[in-house]
Amino acid sequence: MTGMRVIGWGKALGEKLVTNDDLAQTLDTSDDWITERTGIRQRYIGGSVASLGTQAAQRALEVAGLTGSDIDMVLLATTTSDQIVPSTAVVIQAALGVTGGALDLNAACSGFAYGMVVANGLLATGMKRIVLIGAEQLSTITDFSDRSTAVLFGDGAGAVVLEATDGPGDLLSSVLGSDGDLKHLLYAEHGGYLQMVGKEVFRKAVQVIVESASEAMVKAGIGVDDLALMVPHQANLRIIQAACQRLGIDEAKAMVTVDKYGNTSAASIPLALVDAITEGRLQAGDLVLLTGFGAGMTWASAILRWNP
Ligand code: UT7
Repeated sequence: MTGMRVIGWGKALGEKLVTNDDLAQTLDTSDDWITERTGIRQRYIGGSVASLGTQAAQRALEVAGLTGSDIDMVLLATTTSDQIVPSTAVVIQAALGVTGGALDLNAACSGFAYGMVVANGLLATGMKRIVLIGAEQLSTITDFSDRSTAVLFGDGAGAVVLEATDGPGDLLSSVLGSDGDLKHLLYAEHGGYLQMVGKEVFRKAVQVIVESASEAMVKAGIGVDDLALMVPHQANLRIIQAACQRLGIDEAKAMVTVDKYGNTSAASIPLALVDAITEGRLQAGDLVLLTGFGAGMTWASAILRWNP
């Protein structure tokens, strides 16, 4: 039996810091509205998916003490590939000097959590190490004249290096879900901007987090009290609070970065995970709930044992 463990991590942010007050200069909005309704105070904009993803991956390789030639596969979760063809994963693969495969994965904001499960499966086929990246440049599909979406999103990337281990490894359980009948709730046409029915997405998000996280905990044979940390997709502080309340998870156990980075879609879970690690919020043996939801709709929950 082959499993996986996390051996490296890194992040990168868009180069320009944009505060709520900056946005209020050109939009009919306010710091008060954005903070109260979303928890967002600022976000970073800029870079490209390839440049952000490469920086985050390079930092993750440094932590692991590896170079690109040690990696069998670049797996990039993104909704905002720099080009339609080729994948942005191949641009990152070339920049890192990886000689193995490269693949973009689009499961919207659930992409990184989906990627954990895909990577776990790929490692079981005999690969030794995978770089899994969540990277987004949402500013390319954001209409900055639409206050209902312009205040929400940011650019950034987070990455982990995953290594095959003998035995079951540290991904204890996972639950993946999707419902394409809800695709009208959140979408962007080619060349168009993100459109969202915010209230409906909010309601569905809380529901799927609670259901998939509960199922993932049952599959792993654990309860909420066994969790050291929850790393949810960072779309809205109120979604995180509502999910914690319904799951019976102490809010203090939820990693929150939406205030600093806004919603960075597939990059939000790895950005929050990397901050949790660097802020010392994880100790060896801790159990972590990763939970994502987004356009599709898609959702994914996974239980990870922190064992670097
Ligand atoms: O990552 C992918 C998943 N995405 C999400 O999970 C997002 C889920 N949805 C949300 O987070 C929330 O629905 C939003 C933050 C998008 C919106 O918050 P809301 O509490 O659902 O507000 P709303 O859309 O119902 O709008 C309330 C009011 C409206 O005015 P009226 O109709 O009550 O007069 C909006 O026009 O707030 C107005 N509004 C704003 N006002 C100031 C909408 N956007 C803004 C804004 N500034 N930026």
